[in-house]
Amino acid sequence: MKIALVHGPNLRLLGRREPEVYGTDTLDDVNARVVALAAELGAEVEVFQSNHEGELVDFIDEASGRVDGFLINPGAFTHTSIALRDALVGVERPFVEVHLSNTHGREAFRRHSYLSGVAAGVVFGFGLQSYLLGLRGLVARLGG
Ligand code: DQA
Repeated sequence: MKIALVHGPNLRLLGRREPEVYGTDTLDDVNARVVALAAELGAEVEVFQSNHEGELVDFIDEASGRVDGFLINPGAFTHTSIALRDALVGVERPFVEVHLSNTHGREAFRRHSYLSGVAAGVVFGFGLQSYLLGLRGLVARLGG
Protein backbone atom coordinates (compact mmCIF):
# COMPACT_ATOMS: atom_id res chain seq x y z
CA MET A 1 0.00 0.00 0.00
CA LYS A 2 1.35 3.40 -0.93
CA ILE A 3 0.16 6.73 0.45
CA ALA A 4 1.07 10.29 -0.49
CA LEU A 5 1.41 12.70 2.43
CA VAL A 6 0.72 16.18 1.06
CA HIS A 7 1.28 19.47 2.86
CA GLY A 8 -0.03 22.77 1.56
CA PRO A 9 1.22 26.34 1.97
CA ASN A 10 3.25 27.51 4.97
CA LEU A 11 3.47 24.08 6.54
CA ARG A 12 7.23 24.05 6.03
CA LEU A 13 7.27 26.75 8.74
CA LEU A 14 6.00 24.33 11.36
CA GLY A 15 7.87 24.56 14.64
CA ARG A 16 8.31 28.33 14.39
CA ARG A 17 4.94 29.33 12.92
CA GLU A 18 2.43 30.41 15.60
CA PRO A 19 3.56 27.65 18.00
CA GLU A 20 0.65 28.45 20.32
CA VAL A 21 -1.68 27.33 17.50
CA TYR A 22 0.35 24.71 15.62
CA GLY A 23 2.71 23.38 18.30
CA THR A 24 6.47 23.01 18.18
CA ASP A 25 6.85 19.90 16.04
CA THR A 26 8.59 20.64 12.74
CA LEU A 27 7.46 19.35 9.37
CA ASP A 28 10.32 16.84 9.50
CA ASP A 29 9.00 15.61 12.86
CA VAL A 30 5.51 15.17 11.39
CA ASN A 31 6.84 13.37 8.33
CA ALA A 32 9.05 11.05 10.40
CA ARG A 33 6.15 10.07 12.68
CA VAL A 34 3.81 9.43 9.75
CA VAL A 35 6.42 7.37 7.90
CA ALA A 36 7.14 5.33 11.06
CA LEU A 37 3.46 4.60 11.78
CA ALA A 38 2.82 3.80 8.14
CA ALA A 39 5.64 1.24 8.21
CA GLU A 40 4.02 -0.39 11.26
CA LEU A 41 0.72 -0.50 9.36
CA GLY A 42 2.36 -1.92 6.24
CA ALA A 43 2.22 1.23 4.12
CA GLU A 44 4.85 3.23 2.30
CA VAL A 45 4.72 7.04 2.28
CA GLU A 46 5.76 9.60 -0.30
CA VAL A 47 5.95 13.18 1.05
CA PHE A 48 5.26 16.39 -0.85
CA GLN A 49 4.95 20.02 0.28
CA SER A 50 4.25 23.09 -1.80
CA ASN A 51 3.18 26.67 -1.27
CA HIS A 52 1.70 26.74 -4.78
CA GLU A 53 -1.79 25.59 -5.65
CA GLY A 54 -0.91 24.52 -9.20
CA GLU A 55 2.05 22.45 -7.99
CA LEU A 56 -0.22 20.65 -5.55
CA VAL A 57 -2.74 19.96 -8.33
CA ASP A 58 0.06 18.68 -10.60
CA PHE A 59 1.43 16.45 -7.83
CA ILE A 60 -1.98 14.91 -7.08
CA ASP A 61 -2.38 14.08 -10.76
CA GLU A 62 1.14 12.64 -11.17
CA ALA A 63 1.17 10.72 -7.87
CA SER A 64 -2.27 9.20 -8.44
CA GLY A 65 -0.70 6.69 -10.81
CA ARG A 66 1.49 5.26 -8.06
CA VAL A 67 -0.37 5.77 -4.76
CA ASP A 68 -3.54 4.25 -3.32
CA GLY A 69 -4.64 7.29 -1.34
CA PHE A 70 -3.74 10.73 -0.04
CA LEU A 71 -3.29 12.11 3.47
CA ILE A 72 -3.48 15.86 3.01
CA ASN A 73 -3.23 19.01 5.08
CA PRO A 74 -4.17 21.58 2.45
CA GLY A 75 -3.37 24.53 4.77
CA ALA A 76 -5.14 27.73 3.73
CA PHE A 77 -6.14 26.18 0.37
CA THR A 78 -8.68 24.18 2.40
CA HIS A 79 -10.81 27.29 2.54
CA THR A 80 -10.26 28.58 -0.99
CA SER A 81 -9.40 25.91 -3.51
CA ILE A 82 -11.99 24.38 -5.80
CA ALA A 83 -9.03 23.28 -7.96
CA LEU A 84 -7.64 21.05 -5.19
CA ARG A 85 -11.08 19.56 -4.57
CA ASP A 86 -11.53 18.85 -8.28
CA ALA A 87 -8.05 17.30 -8.50
CA LEU A 88 -8.69 14.96 -5.58
CA VAL A 89 -12.10 13.94 -6.90
CA GLY A 90 -10.74 13.60 -10.42
CA VAL A 91 -7.98 11.10 -9.61
CA GLU A 92 -10.45 8.76 -7.88
CA ARG A 93 -8.25 7.91 -4.91
CA PRO A 94 -9.59 8.19 -1.34
CA PHE A 95 -8.13 10.99 0.72
CA VAL A 96 -8.20 12.05 4.36
CA GLU A 97 -8.07 15.76 5.23
CA VAL A 98 -6.13 16.66 8.37
CA HIS A 99 -5.46 19.86 10.29
CA LEU A 100 -3.22 20.48 13.26
CA SER A 101 -5.51 23.12 14.75
CA ASN A 102 -9.22 23.00 15.53
CA THR A 103 -10.32 24.94 12.47
CA HIS A 104 -13.86 25.18 13.88
CA GLY A 105 -12.69 27.03 16.98
CA ARG A 106 -10.87 29.79 15.13
CA GLU A 107 -11.85 32.51 12.64
CA ALA A 108 -15.16 31.95 10.84
CA PHE A 109 -13.45 31.69 7.43
CA ARG A 110 -11.62 28.54 8.58
CA ARG A 111 -14.89 26.69 9.25
CA HIS A 112 -15.57 26.08 5.59
CA SER A 113 -13.58 23.46 3.71
CA TYR A 114 -13.93 22.81 -0.02
CA LEU A 115 -12.49 19.35 0.58
CA SER A 116 -14.32 17.91 3.58
CA GLY A 117 -17.48 16.99 1.67
CA VAL A 118 -15.57 14.73 -0.71
CA ALA A 119 -13.00 13.37 1.79
CA ALA A 120 -13.06 9.82 3.13
CA GLY A 121 -12.67 11.44 6.54
CA VAL A 122 -11.46 14.56 8.32
CA VAL A 123 -9.36 14.91 11.50
CA PHE A 124 -8.61 18.28 13.08
CA GLY A 125 -7.48 19.77 16.35
CA PHE A 126 -5.00 17.16 17.61
CA GLY A 127 -1.71 18.60 16.38
CA LEU A 128 0.64 15.96 15.03
CA GLN A 129 -1.81 13.30 16.23
CA SER A 130 -4.31 14.49 13.59
CA TYR A 131 -1.96 13.09 10.95
CA LEU A 132 -1.52 9.78 12.77
CA LEU A 133 -5.25 9.33 13.34
CA GLY A 134 -5.92 10.29 9.75
CA LEU A 135 -3.34 7.81 8.55
CA ARG A 136 -4.97 5.01 10.54
CA GLY A 137 -8.33 5.91 9.02
CA LEU A 138 -6.96 6.02 5.51
CA VAL A 139 -5.13 2.68 5.84
CA ALA A 140 -8.33 1.08 7.19
CA ARG A 141 -10.31 2.58 4.34
CA LEU A 142 -7.81 1.10 1.90
CA GLY A 143 -8.26 -2.32 3.45
CA GLY A 144 -5.04 -2.44 5.51
C1 DQA B 1 -4.25 24.34 9.02
C2 DQA B 1 -5.46 25.24 9.27
C3 DQA B 1 -5.63 26.25 8.16
O1 DQA B 1 -6.75 27.09 8.40
C4 DQA B 1 -4.40 27.11 8.02
O2 DQA B 1 -4.53 28.00 6.93
C5 DQA B 1 -3.14 26.31 7.92
C6 DQA B 1 -2.99 25.15 8.80
C7 DQA B 1 -3.99 23.39 10.22
O3 DQA B 1 -3.27 22.43 10.03
O4 DQA B 1 -4.49 23.65 11.32
O5 DQA B 1 -2.23 26.64 7.18
O6 DQA B 1 -4.52 23.53 7.88
